[in-house]
Amino acid sequence: MILEVTGLKKYFDTPAGIVHSVDGVSFKLAKGETLGLVGESGCGKTTTGRTIIRLYEPDGGRIIFDGQDITRKSSRDMLPFRKRMQMIFQDPYASLNPRMTAGDIIREPMIIHGLPKDEHTDRVSHLLRLVGLNSEQAGRYPHEFSGGQRQRIGIARALAVEPEMIVCDEPVSALDVSIQAQIVNMLEDLQKSLGLSYLFIAHDLSMIRHISTRVAVMYLGRIVELSGSDELYSRPMHPYTVSLLSAVPIPDPDKSDMRKLVALKGEVPSALNPPSGCNFRTRCPEAKPECSHLTPELEDKGNGHYCACPFV
Ligand SMILES: Nc1ncnc2c1ncn2[C@@H]1O[C@H](COP(=O)(O)OP(=O)(O)OP(=O)(O)O)[C@@H](O)[C@H]1O
Ligand SMILES: [Mg+2]
Repeated sequence: MILEVTGLKKYFDTPAGIVHSVDGVSFKLAKGETLGLVGESGCGKTTTGRTIIRLYEPDGGRIIFDGQDITRKSSRDMLPFRKRMQMIFQDPYASLNPRMTAGDIIREPMIIHGLPKDEHTDRVSHLLRLVGLNSEQAGRYPHEFSGGQRQRIGIARALAVEPEMIVCDEPVSALDVSIQAQIVNMLEDLQKSLGLSYLFIAHDLSMIRHISTRVAVMYLGRIVELSGSDELYSRPMHPYTVSLLSAVPIPDPDKSDMRKLVALKGEVPSALNPPSGCNFRTRCPEAKPECSHLTPELEDKGNGHYCACPFV
């Protein structure tokens, strides 16, 4: 296992109260695997990713990276681990410094992690080519690139210090549909050639299916279901996953009647005041009175399929 996360919590203390952004998240990521993390906007996907690589201080739980507990490591002790775990950000426009050239952006992590200086320039050229750009583009600024090209620069920056694991935080959702597949395919090729492990965040179940070995479905700070990707799509168990899948267009019209459309009632509750017990119960079509006072844990339902609902 490259990563083992147990009971991870991240709360934010805000003037309005405590936001329960990540509220007991557990999963494992095997070496070379892609784990998809999906859920609606605001359910805590980015906060999970950022807490795992210790951009945020966790408020509970444990993070084991390659067998070592990094939950409480100081910034200084984290430095060798930061080299091994990188992040690709959601918005390639906001995540690249507009005043730095592409080359300087890619070189920056090499400086931070003390890679030999005489290798930087060659390595920048190599990385630019690796992500489908050319080395002459090193002197250009972010605004001179398209959205897809900017994300390629963000990927090159993440790869600069040869990480083993990358948190890909919705790396294509800000891009034109026409170039999303190119970037996803490139990430898959890079994974194979470099032996990378990915935590791949998305809010769209259909886009994550192809790239993920397994998928974790998140709702209001918790994982409600986790299973092999094909298994999840063919046999969704949790009422939330069922509703998410019913929102995915089905290409084969003959099969469309097999998925009954489950409309969720109401809005996602606020993470400031999550419902007691199972926090999905306020929108769950199968909710029972006891759901307000039980805290469902992920249970093994067989076949490596985990679901946090005792009633399925
Ligand atoms: N720095 C912060 N301070 C206070 N609250 C925060 C902070 N970051 C995130 N939150 C809150 O935590 C919750 C989870 O946010 P997060 O960004 O992790 O969700 P997400 O699943 O990544 O959403 P999206 O799909 O929109 O990117 C939200 O309620 C959000 O408002
Ligand atoms: Mg996010």
